[in-house]
Amino acid sequence: MRIIVGIGGGIAAYKAAMLLRLFGKAGHEVIAMPTITALEFVGKPTLEALSGNPVHTSVFEQVPQVNHVRQAELADAVVIAPATADLLARLASGRADDLLSATVLTTHAPVILAPAMHTQMWEHPATRENVRILRGYGYHLIEPAVGRLTGPDSGVGRLPEPEDIFEAAQRVIAEFPKGKEHPSQTPGYAPTHPVHAGSTEDSDSLSAPSIEPEPGILAGKRIVITAGGTREALDPVRFLGNRSTGKQGVALAQAARDMGASVHLIGANLEVPAPDGVELTRVVSAADLQRAVLKSISGADALVMSAAVADFRPADYAEYKIKKTADPDDNPVIRLVRNPDILREVVQRRQQLGGGPRLIVGFAAETGSPDKTPLELGREKLTRKGCDFLAVNTVGISQGFGTDENTVTLISSLTDEAPVFSGSKGEVSRDILTTLAAYL
Ligand code: C5P
Repeated sequence: MRIIVGIGGGIAAYKAAMLLRLFGKAGHEVIAMPTITALEFVGKPTLEALSGNPVHTSVFEQVPQVNHVRQAELADAVVIAPATADLLARLASGRADDLLSATVLTTHAPVILAPAMHTQMWEHPATRENVRILRGYGYHLIEPAVGRLTGPDSGVGRLPEPEDIFEAAQRVIAEFPKGKEHPSQTPGYAPTHPVHAGSTEDSDSLSAPSIEPEPGILAGKRIVITAGGTREALDPVRFLGNRSTGKQGVALAQAARDMGASVHLIGANLEVPAPDGVELTRVVSAADLQRAVLKSISGADALVMSAAVADFRPADYAEYKIKKTADPDDNPVIRLVRNPDILREVVQRRQQLGGGPRLIVGFAAETGSPDKTPLELGREKLTRKGCDFLAVNTVGISQGFGTDENTVTLISSLTDEAPVFSGSKGEVSRDILTTLAAYL
């Protein structure tokens, strides 16, 4: 296969060198196609040596061969890593002002984009819109990773590791081999789900055909959904966390989107891919989640708090990694302090200030207690939190967390009915949202 590795002008451009090697080692013919600014970060000789082919950046080189047309026709795939905010913008608007963008505009091969940039740039509405447009063209986007960015910052926007990009690209290439027309050539094509670096297991299970949403039932509604589990940092490398993977919340977001809602997913350390077509804010700690929720709920019709939010966080954050001392009896004691109860806070704000989401929905993962069933504990919690609905499920080490199936009892302060929904997390989501839709 002949793979064009496009390289945008960002600090992560050095990882493209490793990507060239991986494709080369796998037996592919590789063409490195940097933008002019990418060459500020990696040198042409490096790219030529690693790809074994000459490197060009402009359509004014090799003019008699009409290089962009030739490269576009010969390519089996175009993989761009890193795809900077500027490059995404140029591709989204169909610009052809260098060899790479002209080639992308010409090719019929699958185009795989691995964006990398600072979190603020990734979350800017302009970039969100460009990503939406690019997905609409049938391009495959690899979600950026969360982690260390340029300088001291960390957050979403990091280029995934070259091995992960390589594997994600290989999956797309296997799906659209040479000779099989890529569906992006069909007008109106939009890929069903994004490409994710790493394992596909989760995305496969989440996009199981069990979700057959009633179309449009939530059309015109804005729903904020929290998912995943928060992490409370102890020191730069350790945290207190929980077993939530985010599967249920992501399934809710996907089902709400399919039912026509405009969805804002606030994902805390999601271990599953976020669905396409929803606004996504990634958070780490309960404090981050609180900020994101309070910022997002104005004008929302419903808030569904399915994230497992830590009730406590370490009282002190150690700026440097906590070390053992030589004394075996010198063991650190971790003191905890309370986190704000975000669900209660949103309910109280609504009571005091009016407005706020019409429906506030909590999730209660209960193990039961010696004298109370999970449902009894759930009813107490519904009263204590004051929310409109509470989805109660029984959890244990192998129950509820990370599984594809769930059983919840949906109790409410608005009705005495307490239906039990059981099935895949997608089916349970659809049942919950169908119930909520009747109150919106
Ligand atoms: O009290 P408990 O953690 O069991 O309550 C679960 C519900 O409360 C979930 O909807 C969760 O998202 C929310 N919650 C919260 N803030 C916390 C703890 C939980 O909003 N600090």
